[in-house]
Amino acid sequence: MQIVGAMRDQLTACIAEPEVAYTLPAWCYVNNDVYELEQSTLFRNGWVGVGRSDRWPNAGDYSAIDIGGVPVVIVRDEDGALRSYANTCMHRSAQIMSGEGNCSRMRCPFHFWTYALDGRLVGAPSMHHTPGFEQDEYGLVEFATEERYGFAFVTVSDSPPAIDDHLAGFEELHTPWPLESLVTTRRREFTVDCNWKAFAEVFNEYYHLPYVHRTSIDDLYNDPDPGDLVSGAFATQFGTTEGTGGLLAGNDSNILPAMPGLDGRAATGVRYTWMFPNIVIALGTEAMWMYEVYPDGAGRVRCAQVVAVPPETVESPAFARNIEAYYERFDVAIDEDIPILEQQHAGQKSPFAKQSRYSYLEPSVSRFASWYAERLLG
Ligand code: FES
Ligand SMILES: [Fe+2]
Repeated sequence: MQIVGAMRDQLTACIAEPEVAYTLPAWCYVNNDVYELEQSTLFRNGWVGVGRSDRWPNAGDYSAIDIGGVPVVIVRDEDGALRSYANTCMHRSAQIMSGEGNCSRMRCPFHFWTYALDGRLVGAPSMHHTPGFEQDEYGLVEFATEERYGFAFVTVSDSPPAIDDHLAGFEELHTPWPLESLVTTRRREFTVDCNWKAFAEVFNEYYHLPYVHRTSIDDLYNDPDPGDLVSGAFATQFGTTEGTGGLLAGNDSNILPAMPGLDGRAATGVRYTWMFPNIVIALGTEAMWMYEVYPDGAGRVRCAQVVAVPPETVESPAFARNIEAYYERFDVAIDEDIPILEQQHAGQKSPFAKQSRYSYLEPSVSRFASWYAERLLG
C-alpha cells in the first residue's frame, strides 16, 4: 500500500508538537493494508522489543515468536549471549521451534536437521549421500539482538540503526531507576480485540483516568509533568502520585521497599515510557510494571504483562504477601481499560470517525503518532 492524497495529508497532520498535532486517523487502527504496511515499515525494519532479558535466564532457554510476520526464535547461547534466528529450517523451510522452553540444540521436527545454539548446522541425517552438500553453508540466518537496561531487542532488518541511537536520550531520563537489575516476578499473556497502538496508547495517557478508573486508580495520580522532549524512538512522562502509584487506596500496609538508590522527586511518582513501537513501561517507586505489545492483525493484540522489582525486594520477608497487592492494582487497571479499548475499536471502524486533537494529558500518544506517521510516509 502507498499512502497518498487525503490520507497522506491526515498523517502529515500528526507530525507536530502535541499542542498543535492531530490524532492518528481511525483508519490506521482498522485497515488491513495499513496493518501490512506497519509490519514491513515498523516491525520488519527497525528494533522490536521482546521483553525483559530474564525471560531467558539460562543457556538454551528459547522462545519462538513472530516479528512482522517473520517466525523468529530467540535463544540464550552457551556463552550467555542472547541470539535470534530466522525460525525456518535451512532444508525445506519447516518452522523449527515452537512455544518456549529449554533446549540444548534446535532440531527441526521434519527431517531432524539440528542446529547448535550458535546457529551452526550440526546434524543433517543422510545428507552425506548428497554430492557437494556442505553442512557449514546451511547455518541459520541470524538477526541482530541487543540487551539494554534489562530489556531485549531484536531486528530482522539487515541494516538497523545502532540500538543506542534508537534509544538516544533514554539513559539520562531513566537513570534514577535500577532498571538493569530488576527481576521479573510475574509475566502473564492475554489478548485484546483492539489495535496494538490503542493498547499502548491507553497506558501512556492520563486523560482517561478520572473516567475509566474513577473508583480505582484515579485518586493515586496528580496532574503530570509535561512530556519530556527526547530525540530517541520513545516518549516519556513523569508525574507525582499520592503515596505510591503501585497500590490501590487502602492497601498502603502492603508497601514494599523503595528501589535502591531511588531518591528525590523520582521517588515520589511514576515515569511512563513508551519504547517505540511495542514496549510500554511504568516505573514506580517500588516496582516496574509493563506490557509487551504484539500486533496480531489490525483488530487484535497479544499482550504480556510483566512486573519486576529489585532483587533485594524479592528477598524481603513480606514480599510474597505484599506483591499480590501490587498485582491486584495492575490487574484492576487493565481490566478497566480492556472494555473501553474494545469499544474504541468498534467506533474506529466507522467511516465517520473524525481526525481530532489531543488534550494536554496525551503528549506521549501524540509523540508516538508523530514518529509513526513519519515512518509510514517514508
Ligand atoms: S524441513 Fe527441516 S529437516 Fe527438513
Ligand atoms: Fe488505563
